[in-house]
Amino acid sequence: MNDSVARYSNEAIITPDLLKQMAYNEKMAELGKISAGVVHELNAPLSVIISASQMIMREDDVPEAVQEMIARISSEAQRLSQLTKGLLNFSSHDETVGETDLNLTVDFILNFLTFEAARRGVTVLRQLDYTLPVIRLDANILKQILLNIIMNALQAMEDAGGKLLIETTNDGPDRICFIIADNGPGIPDETLDRIFDRYFTTKKPGEGTGLGLFVTKNLVESMGGDIKVSSRIGGGTTFVVTLPIQQ
Ligand SMILES: Nc1ncnc2c1ncn2[C@@H]1O[C@H](COP(=O)(O)OP(=O)(O)O)[C@@H](O)[C@H]1O
Ligand SMILES: [Mg+2]
Repeated sequence: MNDSVARYSNEAIITPDLLKQMAYNEKMAELGKISAGVVHELNAPLSVIISASQMIMREDDVPEAVQEMIARISSEAQRLSQLTKGLLNFSSHDETVGETDLNLTVDFILNFLTFEAARRGVTVLRQLDYTLPVIRLDANILKQILLNIIMNALQAMEDAGGKLLIETTNDGPDRICFIIADNGPGIPDETLDRIFDRYFTTKKPGEGTGLGLFVTKNLVESMGGDIKVSSRIGGGTTFVVTLPIQQ
């Protein structure tokens, strides 16, 4: 056994379950890198399809039926191209702290998750305060926080009639706030205290890592913000995140 492995195994007790989880996380991380490459490759042929179909539509004497088909090809290719651009934008690593617009970031994530929500029959309502100031932070971190909380909510709502409300507002002059509320099954009192714990999950192995809310809470607090949850069995779950405008 080489040195680093020995040191590593001395530091933490790796149970078979933990090892399985770590292996799964590693696989997902690798798959993520591969998908970024695949998505990048898709961009070029999609642009060709979009521009070629637009050229055909500009031709004279194209029969109406053909025009309709070309229009569909073009709009589907544009939809895919939006999706791939979203994925690329999301997987990018540049950690720049700039002026970030909370509402635009919420819109970006909700557009990105349109398919996930539709697949589960969830209706998404936005109540955005467009008078909010921009905040100084890394937009990628904000995206990840929103994604973690919203994906959990979508995953919790399995029955038809799911509703998800995203509200943005201010919390005094120096802080902004967003509220993510679902009408899913809720979280029992005995687990509510544990949902931010590392590796705490109620999902099947391979479905949940138990890291989402742990990472989310740490990211929020590292920016001087805070995250609160309230939940009632059968009454849904609400997360409230506040962040300072300046750090
Ligand atoms: N909106 C929600 N509704 C019901 N339960 C939730 C919700 N959000 C989080 N949870 C609970 O918190 C647990 C931990 O979430 P998370 O840290 O993201 O890990 P994971 O999603 O991998 O299970 C989930 O397994 C689930 O039991
Ligand atoms: Mg999660």
